[in-house]
Amino acid sequence: MKSLKYLLGAAVGAAAMMALSASALAITVGFSQVGHESDWRTAFTKSMQDSAKAEGIDLKFSDANQKEEDQLKAVRSFIAQKVDAIVIAPIVITGWDQVLKEAKAANIPVFIVDRDVDADKSLFVCRIAADFNLEGRLAGAWAAQALAGRGNIVELVGTVGSAAAEYRRTGFNAVQALFPLIKTVKSQSGDFTTQGGKEVMESFIKATDGLKDIKLVWAHNDNMLLGAIQAMKEAGLHPGKDILTVSVDTVPDELKAIIAGDANATVELRSDIGPDIFNVVKAYLGGQHDWPKWVVIPSRVHTILDAAEVLKAKGG
Ligand code: AHR
Repeated sequence: MKSLKYLLGAAVGAAAMMALSASALAITVGFSQVGHESDWRTAFTKSMQDSAKAEGIDLKFSDANQKEEDQLKAVRSFIAQKVDAIVIAPIVITGWDQVLKEAKAANIPVFIVDRDVDADKSLFVCRIAADFNLEGRLAGAWAAQALAGRGNIVELVGTVGSAAAEYRRTGFNAVQALFPLIKTVKSQSGDFTTQGGKEVMESFIKATDGLKDIKLVWAHNDNMLLGAIQAMKEAGLHPGKDILTVSVDTVPDELKAIIAGDANATVELRSDIGPDIFNVVKAYLGGQHDWPKWVVIPSRVHTILDAAEVLKAKGG
């Protein structure tokens, strides 16, 4: 009898323990996102939200709407809420040390995703992101071969001060430097938005007598290029034919533009990386603390050769 009571007591205790440990094990993660400036960003947010749900992670999401001060506020609010981990997709490279020190003092591990920061590397666990410099070099190599090493180009720059814009530009310029007859004649930021790309291209068209002698548009993301394509078409120009294009992201609308012959090449920045990010976060919280400072997500170039196949794979 005594042993039956003990067994029952133990079973009830185990069930209670299991319920307790299940709730105690539910991870709360604060995710500070850049904004919703591009199709790529929206797809990345969805990947984070879907994979958090699939993993049973309580995700506290904050959209900074491309405003640095909102992003810092969001991180401070995650610290105040004592989340288990903080994931930051930073808008700009600079200005992170202080808030990262505050997270460290509160014993909350921080994971940097997508864009980079120039903060002391001991202040975050690791960065999980593609190689933006490589994306720029891939775009530059595609441009150099498409132009056979000669021709004027215009550049649509991403958000000033963001790692995506700075590193892509550095990578592209490094390849371009090998081809002295390829010259950038206009360069301006369109802030990674479709509208920004359209407006900047309209000003380029005016300033260059309808893109006279311009052979190629290099856009730091697809959305700016999609806006630029609209502007070029409205001006009676033929992007994808008379004026070649190369951009970054590989969003469905860009693949459609390539298939329609309005665009030529896009370097893929994977947006479906929520599961990869949460795998690292969960493993870290589970005790695996030894991560390389940069977990690299690979990049590839897509053209008319595989655009339909890639679009299908993305469900488009
Ligand atoms: O940081 C990645 C860049 O940010 C993407 O290429 C762009 O679309 C987004 O806004």
